[in-house]
Amino acid sequence: MEVPLVDLKASLEPIRDELFKGFEQVLEGMNLFLGENVQRFEEEFTTFCEAEHGIAVSNGTDAIFAALSALGIGPGDEVIVPSHTFFASVEAVVHTGATPVLADIDPETMTLAPASVAEAIGPATRAILPVHLNGHPADMDPILELAREHDAFVVEDCAQAHGARYKGRRCGTMGDAAAFSFYFTKNLGAFGEGGFVLAGNEDVAEAVRELRHHGHVSKFEHGRIGYNLRPDELQAVVLRLKLRHLEENNRQRAAVAERYAERLDGLVRLPGRREDCEHVYHLFPIRVRDRDALRDYLWDKGVGTGIHYKIPAHQQPAMRDVHHRRTDLAVTEETCPLLLSLPMYPELRDEQVDYVAEQVRAYLDELPAASRA
Ligand SMILES: Cc1ncc(COP(=O)(O)O)c(C=O)c1O
Repeated sequence: MEVPLVDLKASLEPIRDELFKGFEQVLEGMNLFLGENVQRFEEEFTTFCEAEHGIAVSNGTDAIFAALSALGIGPGDEVIVPSHTFFASVEAVVHTGATPVLADIDPETMTLAPASVAEAIGPATRAILPVHLNGHPADMDPILELAREHDAFVVEDCAQAHGARYKGRRCGTMGDAAAFSFYFTKNLGAFGEGGFVLAGNEDVAEAVRELRHHGHVSKFEHGRIGYNLRPDELQAVVLRLKLRHLEENNRQRAAVAERYAERLDGLVRLPGRREDCEHVYHLFPIRVRDRDALRDYLWDKGVGTGIHYKIPAHQQPAMRDVHHRRTDLAVTEETCPLLLSLPMYPELRDEQVDYVAEQVRAYLDELPAASRA
C-alpha cells in the first residue's frame, strides 16, 4: 500500500468544476489582483476566524512581516519567538530589523513555553510571536499576561492552525495581530501562494493594507514606503472554494489523529493535546529515538513521512550572522532529533491509517524497549 505524507490532489476533486468556472471568470475579466474574489475571501475568512479585520497578502512570511511592521516593530526592538518552528517565523522578525529572541517549547504541545517567555522578556521586548505549531494552540493566557505586564504586542503565527481554538477562542483573535499562510500544504491551502493578516483594530488593518500595496493611500499617492505583498485573484478563487470544506477537513484530520492514537498509544510518544484546545492537526509528529531508521523503514513499506523540524532556528547556519538572543533551549534540543511526522491529510482512509500504524508497530516490535522514546 502507498501512503504519501500528504495527498495534495485529493483536495481538487470536490471543487474542480466550480474552480475552473471561477478561473474562467477571472481570466475573462483580467482583473488579476485585489479584485472581487480577494475582497470576498477577506470577508469570508475573517468571519470564519470570528474576527473583524482581515487582509489578504502574498504569503505567510509576508503576513508575519506585515503584521509586525504595522505594529511599528523594527530595529532596536526584540521579538520573542520559539526556536522550534518553521524558519519563516524567525526570518520575518529579522526582515523587520528587530532582534529575534529564541525561546523554548512546552514538552507536551511543542508550542512556545510561557516559562521560557518569562525568561526571555525584558525592557527591549516589543512583541511575542507564539506559533500554533502543528495545529495546536500555544498556551495563550500566560503569554498574553506577560505581554500585558511588559507592554508588548502579541502576534500569533497561525500558519498551521486555521480553525484551531484555545479555550473556545479562535487562533488569530487573541493577540494584537495574527498571520496565516495558505501555502499549498496547509489546512487551507491555495494552489500556489497566499497569506492573511488578522488585525486587532482598524488602524493596524489600514497599515497592513498600505504596506501590502506600495504604501498606496489613494490613486497615485503613496503615504509610506511599502512593499509588494499583493494577493492574487486566482488564488482567492481557490481559497474561497476550499474554505467551505475547512471545518469538515479539520474534523477528518482529528479523526485520523484519534485513530493513530488508538493504535500507537504506549508504543511511541504521541503529540500532546490540551483538553481546553481544539487541535487542527496540520501535522502529526510522533517522537521516537530511532527516527531516521524508522523513516527509512516506512519509506520501504510505501509510507511517506516528514521531519518538522530537524534543525531548530538557533542552530541554523543562517543565524550565525544574525544578531539574536536565546534562552535555555533544552526541550527544543531534546525534541528535534526525535520528531517524525506521519501521513496526515483529511482524505486518509481508515485502512491507510491502520497500515501506517501497523508498520510503525512492526518496526518497533523488533527493537529493544530502551531504543524507543
Ligand atoms: C509556522 C509557520 N510560519 C510561517 C510560515 C510561512 O508561510 P509561507 O510559506 O506562506 O510564507 C509557515 C509555512 O510555510 C509556517 O509553517
